[in-house]
Amino acid sequence: MSRRLVDTLGRVVTNLRISVTDRCNFRCSYCMPEEGMEWLKRNQLLTYEEITRLARIFASLSIYKIRLTGGEPLMRKELWQLVAMLKKIDGIRDIALTTNGYFLAEQAQRLADSGLDRINISLDSLDPLLFADLTRRDYFRRTWEGIEAAEKAGIHPIKLNVVLVRGVNDGEILNFAELARKRPYVIRFIEFMPIGKDDGWVLDKVVSTREILQTINSYRPLVPLPHVNGKAPADRYMFADGKGEIGFISSVSQPFCGDCDRVRVTSDGKFRTCLFSLTETDLRAMLRGGTSDEEIAEALVNAVSKKEEGHLINRPEFIRPERTMSQIGG
Ligand code: 5AD
Ligand code: SF4
Repeated sequence: MSRRLVDTLGRVVTNLRISVTDRCNFRCSYCMPEEGMEWLKRNQLLTYEEITRLARIFASLSIYKIRLTGGEPLMRKELWQLVAMLKKIDGIRDIALTTNGYFLAEQAQRLADSGLDRINISLDSLDPLLFADLTRRDYFRRTWEGIEAAEKAGIHPIKLNVVLVRGVNDGEILNFAELARKRPYVIRFIEFMPIGKDDGWVLDKVVSTREILQTINSYRPLVPLPHVNGKAPADRYMFADGKGEIGFISSVSQPFCGDCDRVRVTSDGKFRTCLFSLTETDLRAMLRGGTSDEEIAEALVNAVSKKEEGHLINRPEFIRPERTMSQIGG
């Protein structure tokens, strides 16, 4: 098979994000409510075998990068086993993980040994009290230990995802800028997006890339770095003296949909061609209903051919997806 996942705009899909669970041990206020989340049942989640079968089909198309997400992916038992299974697939060249870091102190080494290539850790505050406010959990210290464990395990690069919400943690821009200079961590500012029903999103709360850049530049000048593979999503900078890297994901102020090369599978096995998709393809039903690999591949090619041109966050006709970020996969 030499078919590719390509849409009508000519965008080739190479990047698959797989959510392995909707559960999380944090309650970040922009992601999910404090109480009342309903979790999927065990048998609704794809098994590691099912995920691996899907990944093999994706790899026979044009996918060569996989990122595991959640919820909190390390809530799934022995996730390193899945990493090892995916690592063996021909054509998969890069496996990454997005995590809140809580379980890394124990698991970073095993993940690295299983072949994990890269890691993104969410860290929205360097102040333990504010961190506890934001995540509704007093876990700053453990998270920090997790970050250090990932460094010690040799996982590289380590990116720290920061979502700023105006009036909440926007006072920490320079603390993060300093951290990028002092430690071998790439700081990634991600603009706050409207996802899910209870995220409290209003445009006013988005701290734009432009604003963050201005704040950092007036402290110490930054210089742009080239895009990785010549493409968005991240606009990368380093300090003019060569120290530290800071990236920006301007999902709201400068959407990168034109360069989008990603698709997603939710933890209950639904295929989504955009974070903001309003339709899904039920892969779990196919996996469990005797559908052949060939037919699944066909369904993927079909769904990608209808990939959304872009999101409509800045337009009046924008409709928020029903699911929260944790249910879709970050
Ligand atoms: N807007 C932007 N980023 C978000 N994340 C979760 N919810 C949102 C949102 N509404 C981020 C998390 C994590 C990654 C998976 O997505 O902070 O780093
Ligand atoms: Fe959990 Fe990540 Fe959502 Fe925070 S943003 S509650 S760490 S899934």
